[in-house]
Amino acid sequence: MTCSILTGGAWGDEGKGKCITYLCRNDKPDIIARAGVGPNAGHSVEFDGEKYGLRLIPSGFVHTGGELMIGAGVLVDPEVFFQEIEELKKYNVGERTLIDKRCSIIKPEHRERDKKSDHLSKKIGSTGSGCGPANADRVLRVSDLAQDIPELEDYITDVSLNVNNALDEGRDVFIEGSQGFSLSLFYGTYPYVTSKDTCASTFAADVGIGPTKVDEVINVFKAYITRVGEGPFPTEMTQEEAEAKGLEEYGVVTGRRRRIGHFDMDLAKESCRINGATQIALTCVDKLYPDCARTQDYSVLSADTKKFIDEIQTATGVPVTIISTGPDLKDTIDLRDELL
Ligand code: GTP
Ligand code: IMP
Ligand code: MG
Repeated sequence: MTCSILTGGAWGDEGKGKCITYLCRNDKPDIIARAGVGPNAGHSVEFDGEKYGLRLIPSGFVHTGGELMIGAGVLVDPEVFFQEIEELKKYNVGERTLIDKRCSIIKPEHRERDKKSDHLSKKIGSTGSGCGPANADRVLRVSDLAQDIPELEDYITDVSLNVNNALDEGRDVFIEGSQGFSLSLFYGTYPYVTSKDTCASTFAADVGIGPTKVDEVINVFKAYITRVGEGPFPTEMTQEEAEAKGLEEYGVVTGRRRRIGHFDMDLAKESCRINGATQIALTCVDKLYPDCARTQDYSVLSADTKKFIDEIQTATGVPVTIISTGPDLKDTIDLRDELL
């Protein structure tokens, strides 16, 4: 039995979607449970020659034998949910996905409040997905819950009970976090953050398990840093420098251009400490070191690439076990066996 949580190490968009798809196809967990804030997330999944931008359905859908669940802490927008079920019809996602009865619901009114608020949409640079206002309503105790929505009736369950029972029966559970450490309401660059904590212990609470149940915390970093929206970014580079390095990126949910910066070792240390990381997944290594694109073999990495990986391990005290060398789930170096 293994219970793993995957976290974002910086400001989101670290390539969690890619790491989740690789890990779920490879390890075949019995339950894949989505934690995190809600449909403000955009996870990119490249699989079977197709590209998906997922906001709510677990990216682990690519493991077709897995049960998919959305934990009580996650905000559910029924429009986004049904749209993704339709988009992923050929993977029987509608038959495999369950929502916790206690999830708060995002209504059109929440999206409007998000977009019309100058504070949220302009000062903070929110995604406009209604997550901030919906979490505020939950705190004010005026939210509708998933169990109150007739259209969701067929999907309602007790995720916490399912996940704890699975663990008691010796089955494997994979918990997908969203956003990233530096967007945490408590530990991030407040007030330029999202509307909830985004660390591993909150992701455990989101799906209703206690900290004693968690075996592995896999913290994902990109080989450089990106940030969308406003707020401090100590290692940010100019747009010209980013373009010269071929590091341009655009957001999955909003299409906004991402700000780009150098890898931040101080941030990596703090993020691993507060998440209690046991492993690091490092993505987009091919964008910094193009000679390693798509390789699955550690030994062919250049000396510079290996030195960069060693520096991260030494600074954080956490082993880099997954190295992603391209967007497809096959473009992965998996060093986990070497830990045993
Ligand atoms: P959030 O929940 O928004 O944080 O999503 P995310 O962490 O899944 O990241 P997102 O998909 O928003 O952005 C990462 C981008 O990098 C996507 O376009 C991925 O397809 C791409 N990507 C992921 N890993 C690699 C990699 O190793 N190499 C390359 N070249 N691209 C990658
Ligand atoms: P909100 O979560 O929509 O309220 O947005 C608050 C801040 O978090 C903004 O800077 C967003 O760009 C950022 N943010 C929220 N979710 C994500 C994500 O999944 N990836 C990257 N940035 C995000
Ligand atoms: Mg994203």
